[in-house]
Amino acid sequence: MDQLPPIDSSPAWQALQAHAEALAPQTLRDLFAADAQRFDTLSWRQDGLLLDLSRQRLTAETLRLLLDLAEAADLTGLRDAMFAGEHINLTEDRAVLHSVLRLPPGSAFDLDGEDVAATAQAELERMAAMVAAIREGRWRGATGKPFRTAINIGIGGSDLGPRMAVDALAADHQPGLDVRFVSNVDGADLARAVAGLDPAETLFIVASKTFTTQETMTNAASARAWLQAGLGRDADWPAHFIALSAAPAEMETFGIKPDHRLTFWDWVGGRYSLWSAIGLPIALAIGMENFRSFLAGAHAMDKHFQTAPLERNLPVLMALAGIWNINFLGFTSLAVLPYDQGLARLPAYLQQADMESNGKRVDRWSRPVHYATGPVVFGEPGTNGQHAFYQLLHQGTQPIPADFIVPLHSRYPMGENGTRHHAMLLANAFAQTEALAMGRPQAEVMAELRQSGQPEYESRMLAPHRSFPGNRPTTTLLLPRIDPFTLGQLIALYEHKIFAQGAVWGINSFDQWGVELGKRLAKPILEELTDPKRQPHHDPATNGLIEVARKGAVD
Ligand code: F6P
Repeated sequence: MDQLPPIDSSPAWQALQAHAEALAPQTLRDLFAADAQRFDTLSWRQDGLLLDLSRQRLTAETLRLLLDLAEAADLTGLRDAMFAGEHINLTEDRAVLHSVLRLPPGSAFDLDGEDVAATAQAELERMAAMVAAIREGRWRGATGKPFRTAINIGIGGSDLGPRMAVDALAADHQPGLDVRFVSNVDGADLARAVAGLDPAETLFIVASKTFTTQETMTNAASARAWLQAGLGRDADWPAHFIALSAAPAEMETFGIKPDHRLTFWDWVGGRYSLWSAIGLPIALAIGMENFRSFLAGAHAMDKHFQTAPLERNLPVLMALAGIWNINFLGFTSLAVLPYDQGLARLPAYLQQADMESNGKRVDRWSRPVHYATGPVVFGEPGTNGQHAFYQLLHQGTQPIPADFIVPLHSRYPMGENGTRHHAMLLANAFAQTEALAMGRPQAEVMAELRQSGQPEYESRMLAPHRSFPGNRPTTTLLLPRIDPFTLGQLIALYEHKIFAQGAVWGINSFDQWGVELGKRLAKPILEELTDPKRQPHHDPATNGLIEVARKGAVD
């Protein structure tokens, strides 16, 4: 791609800055009062989803200017380059083609002379055969017993996506196999996952794109030791191991049997890999038909992102609303608030998807950027978060934009008519977005306090505490329900939103050099911690902490 001027030097950026200043005095209350059609104008419906941006602090004019910005950044050019398989991951010289993993069967996609769609389908077929063999009890452990528990050992992209999806799709789980996850090198994680299990009935899935990640390889070795301790040193431990990786030689070195390996490729980024072999734990939990439906949902979103005009393109609209908040209103955090207990792990998943992708300070042409990039992402499911951190969202000093993700129906009928619990959940989601947008003026609170007979001095003291500034931006995303197809749509929506933001910022959303330094420093420190003869050579604080840790106590 040709080098573009820094996006903050574009006329579109400057027009947005001027527009932000002009719009600033108007609150969301004002904007709704001035336009009865605001909800209709600023919400979009697509394939069963509804995206409501009417509670963002923007207007149709803002969106028009943001679309100019997208054009100045050549968003569509980069999008088309990604879908065409160009090496848009410049620093690693790689194509970015997770979309190929969710193409319908029978599709073709040429990458450097290879039909990678056919390659991906063939691997999916191998995965299907594995899932069937394990689920039907034909694939057995060293003692001939079928597997009752599968434990995925992986971290980052080799953990967060599958873990989130397995949790989100609990209503689709098929009986007979418990799927668990271990990621942390903290021994507690593995110890708790295997507690009470029979090694003879336990299958480990070692998931690692590189197959060199310290935490995963350490956990995999300890899992092997646990199996050998339970089954005997000479037991056929490889019968209990499957590996998912883009590094076949490393799988071989670990001792994984050839037909226990599933591969994926360097054109699949780690945090975009749950659609690949890395999705095996999802497929084991929900079955292959459901897994294919999950892929189909993502593919539907791919097609929408690729073909819909930008002014009706859900990921693009979400991306632009985020850029407006971050770069023109100065709100650099994002709360992700799913009103669905199954999506409890979605914020953690999106932390990696967003922050590892767009936490960058240098653009694609190696120039430092002089504007904010990726937001700080955090969140919890509603209604739990309401009783924890929403206080700050409502009355804190910094507005924090929030995404409310709200399924219209629950998979779990509960309460009166089977709908009472879910009606309460919906009511809470809608009440929160109303409260955040509209607030509660102090005058209204004063009037109520006076009317209730409070003494005047007490009313004056209390009113500021009990009033709400409002004007806090939120996005609401409605989905029919959380099932494999809609979860696929939802995740792909966020993937493309993140991509579109990175494109406008001119950064490479597909590398992650920022994780390297800490990994590199941990190696000598580990040696220094375990070998007292080694002299630590770090900054004084690190040396001091190593010394205390070696002593094992603070004296
Ligand atoms: O440390 C970050 C990272 O490289 C992520 O990008 C990746 O998802 C994770 O580590 C795990 O890597 P792997 O799948 O190679 O074990």
